[in-house]
Amino acid sequence: MTDTRFTVSPGGQLTGTLRVPGDKSISHRSIMLGSLADGVTEVSGFLEGADSLATLQAFRAMGVSISGPDNSHVIIKGVGLHGLQAPAQALDLGNAGTSMRLMSGLLAGQSFDVTLTGDASLSTRPMQRVVEPLSRMGADIDTAAAGTAPLVIHGGAPLHGIDYVMPMASAQVKSCLLLAGLYADGTTCVTEPAPTRDHTERMLGGMGYPLDSSSGRVCLAGGHRLSAMRIDVPTDISSAAFFLVGASIAPGSDLVLEHVGMNPTRTGVIDILQQMGAAIDISNRREVGGEPVADLHVRAAELHGIEIDPVLVPLAIDEFPAVFVAAACARGPTVLTGAGELRVKESDRIQVMADGLQTLGIDATPTPDGMLIEGGNPTAGCVDSHGDHRIAMAFAMAALRAQGTIEISDCDNVSTSFPGFVGLAAHAGLSIESVSP
Ligand code: S3P
Repeated sequence: MTDTRFTVSPGGQLTGTLRVPGDKSISHRSIMLGSLADGVTEVSGFLEGADSLATLQAFRAMGVSISGPDNSHVIIKGVGLHGLQAPAQALDLGNAGTSMRLMSGLLAGQSFDVTLTGDASLSTRPMQRVVEPLSRMGADIDTAAAGTAPLVIHGGAPLHGIDYVMPMASAQVKSCLLLAGLYADGTTCVTEPAPTRDHTERMLGGMGYPLDSSSGRVCLAGGHRLSAMRIDVPTDISSAAFFLVGASIAPGSDLVLEHVGMNPTRTGVIDILQQMGAAIDISNRREVGGEPVADLHVRAAELHGIEIDPVLVPLAIDEFPAVFVAAACARGPTVLTGAGELRVKESDRIQVMADGLQTLGIDATPTPDGMLIEGGNPTAGCVDSHGDHRIAMAFAMAALRAQGTIEISDCDNVSTSFPGFVGLAAHAGLSIESVSP
C-alpha cells in the first residue's frame, strides 16, 4: 500500500455525459451466486474494483473457473451448490465487508474449513452480527476476541433454518443468512426493521430459486438449485452520488450520468438531494436483468438544509459522506438522526466526516447516531480520509465550492469501489491530481 493523496484545486463545474463503474453490491453477488449455479453465468458491467476482485479471487481459490474481467466482462463456470473445494490457504478479502459477511453464510454450509481475513479496517468491523445468528443455525465459527476477523469457519456443521428478526437494518446480515439458508434443513426467514437493498433476493429469484418476500420478511427453504443466467450489472448509484452532489453544488454544472442502478432500495440519495432542492431529472427508465436503471441529468441548484427522514437512512446508507458535503454547501441546517450504523462502516463515517468538515471551517456536530451540519462555505485544508474510499471521494467534490485547495490523505482505497475515479472526475471538470509517493 502507498499513501495516495488527492490534491483538489478549488472551483470548476461538472459537465458532460459519463458512466460510472458497475454496482459493487451486485458485482459481489454475481460472483457468489454465479459460482453456486448450475451452468455458465455471463456478467457484463462487472466492477473491476479491489473489493469485487477479492470476491472473484476467493471463488477461484475454491476451484471455480472464472475468466475475466475483460472490459468488465466475466464468465463463471458454476460448480453447483455443492461443488466448491477447500482453498489451499486463508481467503484474504481486503477491505470488502460485503464479501466477508455474505461469504461467512455461504461457507458455513460447506463441508470444508476456511479462514477469512481482511485488511486493518475490515479486521476491526463487527462480525458478531453474522456469527451469532449463523451459530443459531448450527454453524461453527471462531472469531478474534473482539468478535472480529479473522473468521475460522468449520465445515461439516449441519445447518437448520431459523426465524431471525434483525436488530439492525442490514442487507449484509440478511443476505448472509439467506445464503446459509440455501444449505439449511427447513426454512430460513429474516425480518428486517426497515427495507434494505434486495439484490440478493432479486438474483436468487432470477436464478430460479424459490423464495417468499413480503412486507419486510423474506423466507427460503434449503435444498433447491440455482440456474445460471446473464447478469447485466447497472452502474453504481453509490458512485454516481459523488457526481450528483458535485454537480448540484458547483454553479454552472450540467451533467448526465448514464445507466445508473435505480433499485428502489438504493435511491434514498436522490430523494434526500431533491428534498434539499437539487435539480435531478430521471429519464430512460428501463429494466436490465431484473434491476431497474435510468439516466440521471443533474444541474447546479441552490441547496437548502433539511431534516433527513430516518426512513431514508438504509436506502442511502453508503451515500452520507456525499450528502454531508451537500449539506455543508447548503443554506441552513441539515439534521441526520437514526444513522448509528455509519459508525461501523469502512471508517466511523460520522466522526471522520465531522472532523474533515470542521477542518474546512464548517460547523458540523457529530451525535451518537447522526450529525448536525450548518451549511456554509468550505475553506481550504488537509483532511484525512482514514482509508475510507467514500470519504476521500466526498471531500474531493467539496473542492468545487471551496475557497482554496483541499488535500486528502490515505486515498488508496478509492480503487475498492471506483477504479478510475480521478480520471473520470477530471474529465468532468474537477481539478484533481492524485499523488502516490
Ligand atoms: C451492502 C450493504 C450495506 C452497505 C454496503 C454494501 C451489501 O451494508 O453499507 O456497502 O452489498 O449488502 P450493511 O448491510 O452493513 O448496512
